[in-house]
Amino acid sequence: MTGRLPQRLLLWFFGLSGIALLTLIVVCVAMQIQVPWQTMNLQSFTMKHYRLYSVKNYSSLEYQRSSENELDTAEKLERNSVQQSEPKDSSESENSAKSDLANLNAKSLKPMPKNETKPTEPDFFGDRYATDDFPSQTNCPNNIRKRVPQTPFSEIFLHSIPVLQWAKHFTPEQYQRLSHYSGAHGWGSVDIEVLKSSLGILNTTANRLMFDDWEKRENRSQCIRCAVVGNGGILNSSRKGKEIDEHDYVFRVNGAVLDGCENDVGSRTSFYTFSTNTMRNSMRSYARFGYKGPPISKETRYIFLPDHDRDYILMKAASTHTVIDKGPERSKKPPTYFGEDVTVEKFKIYHPDFIRYLRNRFLHSNLLKTGARRIYRPSTGAVMLLAAIHTCDQVDAYGFMTPDYNLYSDHYYDKQRHAVHFYANHDMRMEMKLWQELHQAGLINLFMRQ
Ligand SMILES: *[C@@H]1O[C@H](CO)[C@@H](O)[C@H](O)[C@H]1NC(C)=O
Ligand SMILES: *[C@@H]1O[C@H](CO)[C@@H](O)[C@H](O)[C@H]1NC(C)=O
Ligand SMILES: *[C@@H]1O[C@H](CO)[C@@H](O)[C@H](O)[C@H]1NC(C)=O
Ligand SMILES: *[C@@H]1O[C@H](CO)[C@@H](O)[C@H](O)[C@H]1NC(C)=O
Ligand SMILES: *[C@@H]1O[C@H](CO)[C@@H](O)[C@H](O)[C@H]1NC(C)=O
Repeated sequence: MTGRLPQRLLLWFFGLSGIALLTLIVVCVAMQIQVPWQTMNLQSFTMKHYRLYSVKNYSSLEYQRSSENELDTAEKLERNSVQQSEPKDSSESENSAKSDLANLNAKSLKPMPKNETKPTEPDFFGDRYATDDFPSQTNCPNNIRKRVPQTPFSEIFLHSIPVLQWAKHFTPEQYQRLSHYSGAHGWGSVDIEVLKSSLGILNTTANRLMFDDWEKRENRSQCIRCAVVGNGGILNSSRKGKEIDEHDYVFRVNGAVLDGCENDVGSRTSFYTFSTNTMRNSMRSYARFGYKGPPISKETRYIFLPDHDRDYILMKAASTHTVIDKGPERSKKPPTYFGEDVTVEKFKIYHPDFIRYLRNRFLHSNLLKTGARRIYRPSTGAVMLLAAIHTCDQVDAYGFMTPDYNLYSDHYYDKQRHAVHFYANHDMRMEMKLWQELHQAGLINLFMRQ
């Protein structure tokens, strides 16, 4: 009896320590699983956190409703960074022996040690661009491009930058060069077949020239005078509508509501700039303010800002009246956003070199030093205004952000006052500063109230 009791205690002791050990192992295993899981989450968390941090006073609802809804772009960032890191990882692990050998060979060929670091800054920025002859369509004595050399912008302004891309631009060499840049900055996010067939149909003079109907117009002036109209709240009660419509060409962007606002913003639209994503978001968000889709009129031309392959796909389907059988714009009928009778002559598409040039030289934001660097691009409105500066003889800009933006609502068509929204993938403050500088340099005439 006496011998049995310590034995039982011993059994209990071993049993309990066994359970304790098991628990410890389970905890350890769980922690080991948790460690990589946590780091992965941390990355996406910091990204989201960054968005929250930098976008002042936005509620997630407002964020989704905004015309420049960038959730989609942020998703693309995540996809892109995955695509970018995958080949890198595999080449590092699998081909390290090969690349070592290659390094060795390179060393023996050239005395300079090969610098095998990760993609360097110049690769990301790609500050080299195609050139295009820019036929001047007027004899305007003092147009913007003639005035640039006397301004601080002379250093960065490229007179031969292609603003629009068209059939001629699709060559194997250009594909090789531009496939390194993703999003709106290159062709890296577009399937080569999609690109080939979409750009291939843009083979008319109208696709190449911004002012394709200028020679046909009877009321031509000596200089091409452009009104570039943003959607800023500063235009509310401005009564600028008549003045805007009196320009030769009127540029508009994204959720440009015209019904009921004609007194303030005018009624003509010669050029409508958008990306498929921003247009679809505007149709969702601003329907209650009367925005039904891109403006449709005889003079209206549509300029795509191609962020995705869906822009190339929509452009082709709309101009050839064919259905889209995959992707977000999938439909059983040809797309009708641009009217029933639209032809390929109505479409233009910004050149990725132009967007990259604007980002690198005009709007080289500090965001390019942060995690937002892959989603950052000039806003759609900024691309529109800078495209006008590179093509028009004179530019009057209305509804763009001014230093007193706090006095106005976000948009001129807001029924209730909303503070201006800031987005993690744009640098609106830098753009605001640029508009001031361009105004002071005399290159644009910016509408301000004070
Ligand atoms: C930001 O939000 C806070 C609370 O939601 C509000 O008190 C403040 O006025 C807002 N600021 C701006 C600039 O809208
Ligand atoms: C790699 O190249 C850069 C710029 O050319 C240079 O500053 C850097 O020191 C080089 N790094 C190595 C490890 O050689
Ligand atoms: C332009 O493209 C269309 C097909 O998209 C083709 O039928 C036409 O021949 C082309 N025109 C020129 C001048 O290449
Ligand atoms: C020029 O004429 C077109 C019609 O041909 C008209 O729509 C436009 O308003 C006129 N432009 C100006 C500046 O009067
Ligand atoms: C637009 O302007 C009118 C007149 O100044 C003003 O009463 C109204 O509140 C403004 N709308 C918004 C949304 O700020």
